[in-house]
Amino acid sequence: MKFFVDTADVEEVKAARDLGLADGVTTNPTLIQKSGKPFRETVIAMAALVQGPVNAEAVSTDRDGIIREGREMARWAPNVAVKIPITREGLQAVKVLESEDIRTTVTLVFTPVQALLAAKAGASWICPFVGRLDDISTPGMEIIGQILRIYGQYSELKTEVIVASVRTPVHVLEAALLGAHGVTIPFPVIQQMVRHPLTDQGIQKFMDDWKKTK
Ligand code: E4P
Repeated sequence: MKFFVDTADVEEVKAARDLGLADGVTTNPTLIQKSGKPFRETVIAMAALVQGPVNAEAVSTDRDGIIREGREMARWAPNVAVKIPITREGLQAVKVLESEDIRTTVTLVFTPVQALLAAKAGASWICPFVGRLDDISTPGMEIIGQILRIYGQYSELKTEVIVASVRTPVHVLEAALLGAHGVTIPFPVIQQMVRHPLTDQGIQKFMDDWKKTK
């Protein structure tokens, strides 16, 4: 199972990499804006830290603009993947970029049929947003099971499912139980996953007892 870090913060990528949990990175325009750092330099810095794909999102809305941006970003580092929101123009751009061996991630996926279209267009990865579905009282993880079932039935569909918009460790647990190819996790959620109060209590007791040992 691939662990991507959902961030535009280079320090968080380093920290996740040191834990062996940075198989790739997903950014988006909101995360880049939040980082306060320039887009290109940030992507290049993160691409130097991890072996796997670093997703940089195209912001054009027309086919040719997305393709132009995608070709440009793919020159920044060999492991840059182009993240493209699912639209008609986006799917057309995915087809062209993948035919040029530029890897793409179709993002803002909210239904299994959108996932099917992205796979037909030849996307390398899709990001279905589970947290944002949960936010509107629709169980986000349900679409993950459906997408995996659809993809599993057709060997010609090679697209991998990276569960996105992850808000809690339970999203990661459910993604793993469903057999998702990967998950993209904000660094604070990675930290939550490490900790358990019984682990903390257990360490404290071992340390206290060790001090009393003659
Ligand atoms: C995915 O690649 C996105 O960057 C991300 O998961 C969006 O998450 P959010 O819904 O918490 O903004």
